[in-house]
Amino acid sequence: MSLTLRPGRRVALVGPSGAGKTTVAALLVRWLDPAAGRVTLNGVDVRDLRGDELRTVVGYLGDDAYLFDSTLEANLRIGRPDATTGQLEQALAAARLLDWVRTLPAGLATPVGEHGVALSGGQRRRLALARALLADFPVLVLDEPTEHLDDVTAAELIRDLLAAAGDRAVLLITHRTDVLGDVDEVVTLTPGSREAAPIGAYAGAG
Ligand SMILES: Nc1ncnc2c1ncn2[C@@H]1O[C@H](COP(=O)(O)OP(=O)(O)OP(=O)(O)O)[C@@H](O)[C@H]1O
Ligand SMILES: [Mg+2]
Repeated sequence: MSLTLRPGRRVALVGPSGAGKTTVAALLVRWLDPAAGRVTLNGVDVRDLRGDELRTVVGYLGDDAYLFDSTLEANLRIGRPDATTGQLEQALAAARLLDWVRTLPAGLATPVGEHGVALSGGQRRRLALARALLADFPVLVLDEPTEHLDDVTAAELIRDLLAAAGDRAVLLITHRTDVLGDVDEVVTLTPGSREAAPIGAYAGAG
C-alpha cells in the first residue's frame, strides 16, 4: 500500500476487520518495522530517526490508552504538563467532554479511579482523545476513536475532531462510513493473501 500524510490533511483508513489497519498505525509509530517497503518522515526513513524524535511527532491513540489512578486534570496534563486551564477546556470541548466535566461537583479534580473505572467506556475514550489533542502531535493517528459511543455522538465527535485538528496530519482509522464525507481522502485496505505474520514478529510491540 502507499499512503501519504500531509499537514492539514485528514485521511481515513478503512477496510474490514483484520485487513491490517492497526498494523499500518503500528508501522507509523514504529512498534513494528516493515518486512518490505519503508516509512518516511519528511523523506527520512523512520528507522534512521531517534525514537524520541518520532514519538514527539507521531501520536497514536488506540483503544487501550492508559489512564492513571488520578484526577481528570492529571490525566490530561500528561499530554501537556504546562497547559493552561483554557487549553484543558478546549481539548475537553473538542472531545465532547466539557459539558459533562462542568456537571461534576469536583470538576477537573474528579478522580478517574484505577484504569479509569469511574468513567464509562466512552468517557475514557474521550478523555484519552482530549489528552492526545492537547499533546499537539503534528501527526495524529486515531485508531477507532469512537468505539463505545452511540452513533450520533460518534459522528459528531469525529466531525468536531477533524475540525479541531487544524494543521495536523490526521489518519483516522474507522469502520464508520457516515463520516467519510468529512475527510480529504479515503484509503481502503483489503486483506492480502500473505500468510499471517508469526506472533513473534510482534514481540516488541507496545
Ligand atoms: N499481535 C499479533 N500477532 C500476530 N498477528 C497479528 C497480531 N495483531 C494482528 N495480527 C494479524 O495481522 C492482521 C491485521 O491485523 P490488524 O490488527 O492490523 O487489523 P485491523 O484492520 O486493525 O482490524 P480491526 O478492524 O479488527 O481492528 C490480522 O490478520 C491479524 O490477525
Ligand atoms: Mg485495528
